[in-house]
Amino acid sequence: MYVAGFGGSWFEHPFWRPKFMIENKRDLDKVTHSSVPYVLIDETLGASVEPEPAACEADADIAAQEQREHPLRRVRKARRPAFQMTKEAIAHRRASQLVNRTKQQMRRIFTDLQMGWALDRADVDGVLDNIVQSVGEDAHALLNVLRIKTKDDYTFLHSAAVCTLMLCVARHRGMDEAETRDLGLAGLLHDVGKIGIPDEVLNKPARLTDPEFSIVKNHPEHGHKLLASAGDIAATALDVCLHHHEKIDGTGYPFGLSAENISFAARLGAVCDIFDALTSQRAYKDAWSPQQALTKMWAWEGHLDHAVMAELMVALNLFAEGLLVKLSNDRLAITLHNDPPGKAAPVVQFFAVEAEEMVAPQKIIIPNDGKGVRVLSVEEPGEWGFDDWDAVHSRVVDALGA
Ligand SMILES: [Fe+2]
Ligand SMILES: [Fe+2]
Repeated sequence: MYVAGFGGSWFEHPFWRPKFMIENKRDLDKVTHSSVPYVLIDETLGASVEPEPAACEADADIAAQEQREHPLRRVRKARRPAFQMTKEAIAHRRASQLVNRTKQQMRRIFTDLQMGWALDRADVDGVLDNIVQSVGEDAHALLNVLRIKTKDDYTFLHSAAVCTLMLCVARHRGMDEAETRDLGLAGLLHDVGKIGIPDEVLNKPARLTDPEFSIVKNHPEHGHKLLASAGDIAATALDVCLHHHEKIDGTGYPFGLSAENISFAARLGAVCDIFDALTSQRAYKDAWSPQQALTKMWAWEGHLDHAVMAELMVALNLFAEGLLVKLSNDRLAITLHNDPPGKAAPVVQFFAVEAEEMVAPQKIIIPNDGKGVRVLSVEEPGEWGFDDWDAVHSRVVDALGA
């Protein structure tokens, strides 16, 4: 058979010549295993293929006539791709494409604001639309891509990641579209004030000096000013921009607000902000795994709101290690070490809620797709009578290993 050309891109076929005679099985295999959709064969120079059975005599005549007039024929390969991309690989590729676009768009948005220009709402809404859609498809794939940052794109990707995390919680809460978008916008613009900070301070891998830290501490107020003058920005975004570095024990900045004066959105902004910073892979440091980051954050006293952290964990199906959780199958369980880090959460169920009794500890995996058993909430051990939580935890986990 004489190949007179390939369909699709020439990158996809394994031959350096576009025209040649197939003379052996090895060449034939190369063609059939490549990812080209079809080949053109020249029937005047080589063999033909079996004609498709004609539906009637007239069809057969037409086919014979066509063959005489057009010796080049397209031969479609059997519909069997040379390799099949997994669902995860497809989701990863889509997320990477989105992140590349988002990076450019965010750079433009931040630059416009720095120049004192009005915020282009169409641009911002475009970024938000794409992230909202991607969160609906596979938020984990998006977060995995957003985790890898270089110093040049750190703030843009960090903003997109905080936006993604806030959207996950909004969706999990069942917020309406307007509230969801306001939270997403807040994540996207929370660090816009960093645009005025010199790169050498922003990207410094070592501990900041006092004067450098005071420059950094100015970014919430600077960002708020930029957003307020850009006009038409939802109050939630202004609030999160100004207050995402406040701490619930009143030791945060810029105002040292106490817990009751920090809104839900700002508390969520703080949690998502730190979670993304700790799990980001940068040139000079290894990232913490999501579970490591959540476990450390949960242990911090007075910084973050545990209720808000719990919402993020349930929304992502990612948990700090050793938490008491309530499952959808009438059981209480303890979250286990997630090793190797995966999307599904391992837990050990040990207590029947309705019957109020201990049951034989059993390890189960909570899938990430919401199908099957789900984690409903993170619980306070003391409220279930587990006053010595460390002792209960060790007993249950040890019984599992026995
Ligand atoms: Fe910040
Ligand atoms: Fe941030």
